[in-house]
Amino acid sequence: MKRATGWDDQVASAIVGELKGRDGALLPILHALQEEFGYVDQRVVAELATALNLSRAEVTGTISFYHDFRANPAGRHVIKICRAEACQSVGCEDLVAHLKRRHGLDVDALSADGLLTIETVYCLGNCALGPAILADGEPVGRVDADTLDSLVARAGSERALTDGEVLS
Ligand code: FES
Repeated sequence: MKRATGWDDQVASAIVGELKGRDGALLPILHALQEEFGYVDQRVVAELATALNLSRAEVTGTISFYHDFRANPAGRHVIKICRAEACQSVGCEDLVAHLKRRHGLDVDALSADGLLTIETVYCLGNCALGPAILADGEPVGRVDADTLDSLVARAGSERALTDGEVLS
């Protein structure tokens, strides 16, 4: 995943122009935009709709349908927390509540320091080891509050390092 370095309309237009002639061009273009910027900005929806002769609703619907596409920039670290049925039955909502209560972190949002994004997903295929998460793409099973505390602390230690670099 590429770091979110800021959306660039010209680069986005170049990607659209390069790929729009392909069969079923929408998904390849969205993947390319996601790869370039780390997310797909709402600003490209109208251009995509025109280029591919689709409605804006079709483009927006595709972006929101596939969990791989983000509509907003992501933090340096991404935790995807499964909230589907099997993980619900073993306490994933307790973990969501823990993140909020202990760390002030909302799910489906970027942390205030921009380092951590926590997202809802529905089934990671790791149901037998629920509650399940993906931590920066790595599957982690039987997640408990301590696991999350460690991951949040790791992101926080990077913030301390970054602050130190600024100070030195
Ligand atoms: S329900 Fe959570 S991994 Fe399948």
